[in-house]
Amino acid sequence: MVPISSTQRSAQTTASETPFRLTNHTAYARWRTEKLRDYPPTPQPLQIDIADPYALTSAEHESLTAICRKANMAVYRLGSSAHHSKRMVRALGRQLGLIRLDQNLCADEDGIAAIRVVAEGRPHEYIPYSDRALNWHTDGYYNDQAHQVGAIIMHCVCDAAIGGANALLDPEILYILIRDENPEYLAALSAADAMTIPGHSDNGRLLRPERSGPVFSVNDQDGTLHMRYTARTRSIRWRNDALTRKAIGFLEELLASDLPYMRRVRLNPGEGIICNNVLHTREAFSDDKAGGKERVVLRARYFDRIGQPRL
Ligand SMILES: [Fe+2]
Repeated sequence: MVPISSTQRSAQTTASETPFRLTNHTAYARWRTEKLRDYPPTPQPLQIDIADPYALTSAEHESLTAICRKANMAVYRLGSSAHHSKRMVRALGRQLGLIRLDQNLCADEDGIAAIRVVAEGRPHEYIPYSDRALNWHTDGYYNDQAHQVGAIIMHCVCDAAIGGANALLDPEILYILIRDENPEYLAALSAADAMTIPGHSDNGRLLRPERSGPVFSVNDQDGTLHMRYTARTRSIRWRNDALTRKAIGFLEELLASDLPYMRRVRLNPGEGIICNNVLHTREAFSDDKAGGKERVVLRARYFDRIGQPRL
């Protein structure tokens, strides 16, 4: 079992006690020690077998919650591949406190997107709906501050013939590595105008206005850390000052290095990632429709987080 004392405590801190304020030295030092103890958890504790996703046992629920409190991510494997549906994803999320779905542009009416290669239409314009690689990002980085994505479920219905693995990295670990290097970098990355995403139009109709926001922010209610980031260089503008440039440069260096904290996961049908919107990539892939291999992942984005007490 993964030790959970640290992150349980962090989940229950109030905003003023949060270790993620640069002035809270003692709280940070204590949280950091406990966070890094036994981290990264060995691959095994990150993986949980689920017999019935509609009715988690208390042991399954406890394990998923504990792992997410420690590492902000878990990989589950369903006992039966009969459960490939958006209804199942919703039911699984609901049992973990994930209720408020983000109805983003590409999600279907029910708020859950089926990510697969799409040849035409609006989704076709977005890299997730292609077989191309996706670089490091958190989901919904272009959302406004009031609608940040707290958690994601990515459920694999079918894997690709070749490729399509994800790499995952806990933003709290990245936070520690940056604070160790230079706390001023975190101050710069927490500025309200640290990153700006230009507006998005379709045929002259504005779908999303230009938005600025911080990379790192702290939830006023429960003191949890949130990260918005994309490694894309197009469609993003960083605040133009020396400290922000250095901070982003250092962050990019970390992501380009082979950190022991990074997890590589290649989902098989019936497996999924459930996480507090950790940083992730997707490698390029090839489908083989004739051979029955067409990568399909059901993706649900939530404004809630896993493992947090509901206030
Ligand atoms: Fe993503």
